[in-house]
Amino acid sequence: MNEQLKKITEEALSRIASCEDQAGLNEVRVAYLGKKGEITQLMKSMKDIPAEERPAFGQLVNDARSKVEEAIEEAALAIKRRDREKKFREEEIDVTLPAKKLRIGHGHPCQRALDELERIFTGMGYEVVEGPEIEYQEYNFTKLNIPEGHPARDEQDTFYITDQILLRSQTSPVQARTMEKGKLPIRMISPGRVFRSDSIDATHSPSFYQVEGLAVDKYITMTDLKGTLTEFAKELFGPDTKTRFRPHHFNFTEPSAEMDVSCFKCHGKGCRFCKGEGWIEILGCGMVHPNVLDMCGIDSREYTGFAFGVGLERIALLKYEIDDMRLLYENDQRFLDQF
Ligand code: DAH
Repeated sequence: MNEQLKKITEEALSRIASCEDQAGLNEVRVAYLGKKGEITQLMKSMKDIPAEERPAFGQLVNDARSKVEEAIEEAALAIKRRDREKKFREEEIDVTLPAKKLRIGHGHPCQRALDELERIFTGMGYEVVEGPEIEYQEYNFTKLNIPEGHPARDEQDTFYITDQILLRSQTSPVQARTMEKGKLPIRMISPGRVFRSDSIDATHSPSFYQVEGLAVDKYITMTDLKGTLTEFAKELFGPDTKTRFRPHHFNFTEPSAEMDVSCFKCHGKGCRFCKGEGWIEILGCGMVHPNVLDMCGIDSREYTGFAFGVGLERIALLKYEIDDMRLLYENDQRFLDQF
């Protein structure tokens, strides 16, 4: 019996030693210590040995049992430790590796130019309003003193949806919409997208952005127009900027003008940037035509106003010294990253 016990114990210990995982250990536990396990069986066979030998033999079996139990526990701990170490090794993080760079974008040059324009005009008490891109020809032309059949309609040839509905060719219809609301006085700018059937080149696109401006009140004169727009130019291009107003023609303003700013590169001397002129044209403007005021429900004998229209891309091109408008639309990251 003793011999058998020794053999079984050794066998159990050697099986434990070669166990690879917890499942293997469980099997050994069942095989030796379970209900029908070999060591348990020996305990049960105690009744077959002489009574005087029983206590000593019982002690031996119990010792063997403890030994096997301990060995299983130790092996289980070792397996756990080994598994944990393996996991750590697999999940090791090299904190010295360079981190992935977080790419934070920034505003598109046109958006930045618009933000700047809005900042300047809201600073002067102007409100920012929006109008529809799909517009009635009546607002795009008729109410702006461009009657049907007028050649000015051809100059702004655009995309018609029906006879009466078109993609607006300018932001000026928002002037008419704002005046019609009847809330006076008016100081507003209206940025937005406009459309013309132009082919794409360095200075043209079938879709571009304008910012319209309108001020209507009692006693508004040309000096208000000049003062406001000169202030705007100084804010945008620097305090030394000078402005000049050249006579022009727009149907919805009388008198009308185009405003030039002194070249902020050469300060008026003439350079490649201003094509030797010393001046750069930046917007159209004028005193709101009495017909427009009257057609939009404002009494032109009581109220006057001035208006202006700026091409947003043109401002962005000038401000960021970009020489081809197409670059603004291509969304080439190598280009956009530079601003
Ligand atoms: N709408 C004109 C254009 O697209 C620009 C313009 C000129 C707007 C004079 C105005 C203005 O409000 O007074 O060419």
